[in-house]
Amino acid sequence: MFICPRTRGPLSGLYSERAHFTYPTVDGVPILLPDPRSLVDRLQDPGQTFPDLTRLSVPDAVTPHLPPSMLGAPSGLGQWFTQLGEETPEAVVVSFGSRHAPPGPALDLGCGVGVLARRMVASGRMTWAMDIRADAVVTAKRLLTGQMNVALIPTHRQGTRRVKVPFKPILTDLAFCVGDATLPPFAPESFSWVDMGDVLDTYGESAPEAMVEATALVQHGGVLTVATGYGSLGAAGEGSPGPDEELLEAMTALGLVLVDQRDRVPWVSRDYDRSWRIRFSHCMAFRKN
Ligand SMILES: C[S@@+](CC[C@H](N)C(=O)[O-])C[C@H]1O[C@@H](n2cnc3c(N)ncnc32)[C@H](O)[C@@H]1O
Repeated sequence: MFICPRTRGPLSGLYSERAHFTYPTVDGVPILLPDPRSLVDRLQDPGQTFPDLTRLSVPDAVTPHLPPSMLGAPSGLGQWFTQLGEETPEAVVVSFGSRHAPPGPALDLGCGVGVLARRMVASGRMTWAMDIRADAVVTAKRLLTGQMNVALIPTHRQGTRRVKVPFKPILTDLAFCVGDATLPPFAPESFSWVDMGDVLDTYGESAPEAMVEATALVQHGGVLTVATGYGSLGAAGEGSPGPDEELLEAMTALGLVLVDQRDRVPWVSRDYDRSWRIRFSHCMAFRKN
């Protein structure tokens, strides 16, 4: 399934004949970056904690997987979260993928701790989970495949609580790799469904390049799902378009057709016992005709 991110040629196992190079692995995860050695050298530094969750933009590995109703918020906030039930941006994009993508493999691009990948497999698809951060992919793999049964979630500054991982291990139909969305280690049209998560908030300046590459990975008739969490991207000019307008314009320019969308989907994240963030995400599904 994988190709060489340097030459775009085939790999035999993890060996690229054209590049005369064997891609390394970390914790059984292939590092399919154009220059994987610098990452491996960094990981071999005895002073390094690996995987280092503090380097990921999530408070812990487990809570990003939980619906708002399971986050244990106090009083009125908790009641509101309970009313939201299972509604999350991930649940919405998975319903889009299940409804609009033809049968076939799925890719969680920028998988973080594997929230989408877990749901993609549960929806019955062979799934690949890829992120540029080795910490994220190794954590996702350990969490989803049952190697990590217990996780620490923050309670207050420097305080944590141990929680049992609240989902069953996934033993088949799930593969992981470290890769860069702007140089993906997959051949064009490999997937019937690709999810890019909150692309504009995540990929920064490389968002346009990542969108072009992600579109190339989708088969004709397949679906690309994206969302915007309206994260803060620094100062914006007066009257500049909203992120969803920008996304719609970019996707349309790539020849994609909007087939479904849901706006103002509550995206609740828990930092610690007394800190919550609520954003309203705009989730969209695009077809590649
Ligand atoms: C906000 S997280 C989203 C994680 C996950 N998709 C979700 O919805 O929970 C964004 C992820 O994109 C990853 N990322 C950023 N730039 C990337 C790139 N060029 N290639 C692959 N992943 C990238 C980050 O490392 C991070 O884990």
